[in-house]
Amino acid sequence: MTDPHLWWYVTRISAMLAWIVMTIAVLWGIVLSTRIFRGADNPAWLQDLHRFLGGTAVVLTILHAVSLMLDPWLSLTPLEALVPFVGDFKPLPVALGIVSFYVLVAVQSSSLLKDRLPRRVWRGIHLSSYVAVLAVAFHAGAAGTDRGTWWYQAVATVLITATVLAAIVRLIMAGRRSGERPAPSHPIDPRTRTRMRVVALDDIADGVRRIRLAPADGSSIEPWEAGAHITVVLPDGVERQYSLCSDPADRDHLDIAVRRVEPAGHGSAWIHSTLAPGDELEVVGPRCTFPLRPAHRYLFIAGGIGITPLKAMIAAVPPQRDWRLVYVGRSRASMPFADELERTHPGRVRVVARDEREGRLPLTEILADDAEVYACGPTGLLDELERLVPADRLHLERFVAVDRSSGRPSTPFAVRLARSQRILRVPADESMLHALQRSGVAVPTSCGTGVCGTCETRVVAGVPDHRDSVMSDADKDEIGVVYPCVSRASSAELVLDL
Ligand code: FES
Repeated sequence: MTDPHLWWYVTRISAMLAWIVMTIAVLWGIVLSTRIFRGADNPAWLQDLHRFLGGTAVVLTILHAVSLMLDPWLSLTPLEALVPFVGDFKPLPVALGIVSFYVLVAVQSSSLLKDRLPRRVWRGIHLSSYVAVLAVAFHAGAAGTDRGTWWYQAVATVLITATVLAAIVRLIMAGRRSGERPAPSHPIDPRTRTRMRVVALDDIADGVRRIRLAPADGSSIEPWEAGAHITVVLPDGVERQYSLCSDPADRDHLDIAVRRVEPAGHGSAWIHSTLAPGDELEVVGPRCTFPLRPAHRYLFIAGGIGITPLKAMIAAVPPQRDWRLVYVGRSRASMPFADELERTHPGRVRVVARDEREGRLPLTEILADDAEVYACGPTGLLDELERLVPADRLHLERFVAVDRSSGRPSTPFAVRLARSQRILRVPADESMLHALQRSGVAVPTSCGTGVCGTCETRVVAGVPDHRDSVMSDADKDEIGVVYPCVSRASSAELVLDL
């Protein structure tokens, strides 16, 4: 460590590596934004790699700055290394290097805080990385002491060319997007109503119609998770929830499939007999209460129209993952997407149509391995799965609420509103939602039966008595939510984030 050359070598190596890694991080970010790897294994892993590259560039840049300070021949002071225009050596190129470092730190921090930052802020900070990497090129070209060597010039040429090409690709992509969609990106807030236009209607099975919806203002749809549903507001104000069955990667439209319910179900009858292409609908969401968690092996079990959220999951599941679909229904003609799924995924899809095959579905045999089970369909099928599959690997979406209060008398309890510390009493014969609304507390609501998830409220303290059918109780407790339209409290007091 006393060798005066040591820090000189560290300075040069760390600078070059930081520049290379930073450029790769920027290129990787562009590749991610094109989504060409969308089908590759685990998109979260790809994002992690991007963050890792950014973090490595920050660490190498810090090492570069520290080694400059430790190099006995340069002996930079911390002020000279960290504050632009303090030192005498090539003030502008050095200042550009210092500013680029701060931009790099901001980009990396915004990556880590992505979920908490407004998307516009995150995007703005991220775009500044292009400027930073070009500024680094200028810094290295003007202040780098190896700049006269052939190898330095070769590496610099590759990095600068790659950066310029990346910036051009990014500009072309931005131009193409704005050309396709003149309006700004459409923010989908789970509790905000948006107008969507019916762009296509198809009868895709006996009694099942697919409705393709696109934002009426021509904007694009923000990312949504497979398993999500939307709430459609009918012209008379009645709301109906429908699972999305399109590919979450399609940002131009959302698809739902609606089975006509006999005797005439309120929403389905209107959709089948009145709704026409070009009509506009009020839509809330998408909202996801049936998320697809990472797993090595999936078993999807669909009953009839319950195929809808599972079809979106199949589109989203990384291709390297092991998955199977067992799809049961009355008759093949009444089962939407059955032929398409069999054709697209040979060997993975088993269609069990009762008009083609006699006898009961051999569920015990189907459930023999340790796959994570995702199921949606009629109550009887889901109840049977609840008896056969351990709760920790069973994920259900129910269309019809289950009565979970049987045998459990309702008792009074108190709700404390965490933000105002107000305390409300919920009598035994009143729902928590009603007690909140009676006291003037606004909680969004839709189904009122504990299936749609609209009234989701965060629990700050206390023990909920979950009586809804939205997701597993373990999942609700893990993320700390309660659905007050039907759920109550097991503790004397429940503190809600209201
Ligand atoms: S309003 Fe639908 S779950 Fe509460």
